[in-house]
Amino acid sequence: LVLILDYGSQYTHLITRRIRALSVFSLCISGTSTLKSITDLNPRVVILSGGPHSVHTPDAPGFPAGFVEWVESNGVFVLGICYGLQLIVQRLGGVVMVGEKQEYGKMEIEVEKACGLFGSKKVGDKQEVWMSHGDEVAKLPEGFEVVAQSQQGSVAAIENQLRRFYGLQYHPEVTHSPEGMETLRFFLFNVCGVNAGWAMEDVVDEEIKVIKGTVGLEDHVICALSGGVDSTVAATLVHKAIGDRLHCVFVDNGLLRYKERERVMDTFERDLHLPVTCVDATEQFLSKLKGVEDPEMKRKIIGKEFICIFDDFAQDLEKKLGRKPSYLVQGTLYPDVIESCPPPGSGRTHSHTIKSHHNVGGLPKDMKLKLIEPLKLLFKDEVRQMGRILNVPEAFLKRHPFPGPGLAVRVLGDVTQENALDILRQVDEIFIQSIKDAGLYDIIWQAFAVFLPIRSVGVQGDQRTHSHVVSLRAVTSQDGMTADWYPFEHKFLNDVSRKICNSVRGVNRVVLDITSKPPSTIEWE
Ligand code: XMP
Repeated sequence: LVLILDYGSQYTHLITRRIRALSVFSLCISGTSTLKSITDLNPRVVILSGGPHSVHTPDAPGFPAGFVEWVESNGVFVLGICYGLQLIVQRLGGVVMVGEKQEYGKMEIEVEKACGLFGSKKVGDKQEVWMSHGDEVAKLPEGFEVVAQSQQGSVAAIENQLRRFYGLQYHPEVTHSPEGMETLRFFLFNVCGVNAGWAMEDVVDEEIKVIKGTVGLEDHVICALSGGVDSTVAATLVHKAIGDRLHCVFVDNGLLRYKERERVMDTFERDLHLPVTCVDATEQFLSKLKGVEDPEMKRKIIGKEFICIFDDFAQDLEKKLGRKPSYLVQGTLYPDVIESCPPPGSGRTHSHTIKSHHNVGGLPKDMKLKLIEPLKLLFKDEVRQMGRILNVPEAFLKRHPFPGPGLAVRVLGDVTQENALDILRQVDEIFIQSIKDAGLYDIIWQAFAVFLPIRSVGVQGDQRTHSHVVSLRAVTSQDGMTADWYPFEHKFLNDVSRKICNSVRGVNRVVLDITSKPPSTIEWE
């Protein structure tokens, strides 16, 4: 195991992913974890991440008392990255100062000593790296040596091979450090002697074993399928482990996309053989939403209805089976459970801050179900990889994200207003199909249409019309937190617009959303 102690760098997750990409299992825990939680994991290598702190501030986070002694008596290797390097220097008796020349962005470094970290290089070899630091090393602890320097003459890499402490002042994990991956690979395999052996096939086998060992032979498990990748992969895995003692429910709330229900049920049943009950709750949802215009109110109503339906499903199951289901499957991912160091000035203490779990429609409070979260150590791309091994169709794994409240947040105002949902479904389908035909679906993070609660004047077939307006939105993004609008070619937009107005009755105007996030959000409500 390679353990990453997170000191709050925006790149910490990237270190974890890069190491997993080298087929080495890595986990990330808070940089303020106790010595026991570190030693219990028995890592061969510990990586200290970067972070926004300065080692000089009184509340700067660092490794716990006894860490260095434990490292040295157990033959553990330590690599500090950026802040992590400065932490090693300061804690082992060196000096870190506020740098005269701060280094941010692309820098060149030169190898001073070709062994240890740069064993595959020659003295004098240069490489481009990504730096982002204000403090710098002024004096090394005893026994350490500089193995690379930046073009400005500051310390770029250090090591003490005897004590197994290493440090990089730059970020090898980002793509702007083109040779960073090679440096990490060399460090893990050649310096630390780590074996590559972590493969997704093994993770699948291991998870199935764990689920079998957890769920008793008489126990039943339930799962709410949203039609998204995470819940589908989680359910498929659990189904492999316990067969039809898994009971899934898929709710058609009347707010789904064009033929969504048929399409996802087809995948669940035909491709994945999942035991799924499809509940048609269109009337139940739409009657509750009638006349409601406030976006937050819509979300609340939808969340509450989901819980009612889920509750009914569990009760029906109990009647049928003669016993209560014991477990609930959730597709929680690793980024949702990683504990991070709080940023400086956030007012939070260094106690663990766990990000809120995201689940489908919430959980009835009195159900007392135990959770099974088989994806909670995986990143999104790893879940897709697992999905491939479990034979989830590729097109399904690559679907754009779709919000829990569905089209309710894409029909502005009352969702039950005249034909709005029907019109929106047709427009959305034309837009998405055109994107697929143009080969753009996989490079766009999310694309959809929005129904605007206004009418505008048009002329169609010599007739004056007073019809609906729809907006098209397509964005690129890494994680949905920020986004850029996608710059379609004029011909593409022209074709889509004509197709929509010619084939969707009731629409005479198409507009394009050209706002990034921020200042907008991706969804309109
Ligand atoms: P926003 O609109 O906040 O969306 O920029 C960011 C991402 O989150 C999705 N989204 C939701 N997903 N329940 C969900 O499961 C919701 O209530 C919800 N609201 C927004 C949105 O589609 C985008 O991918």
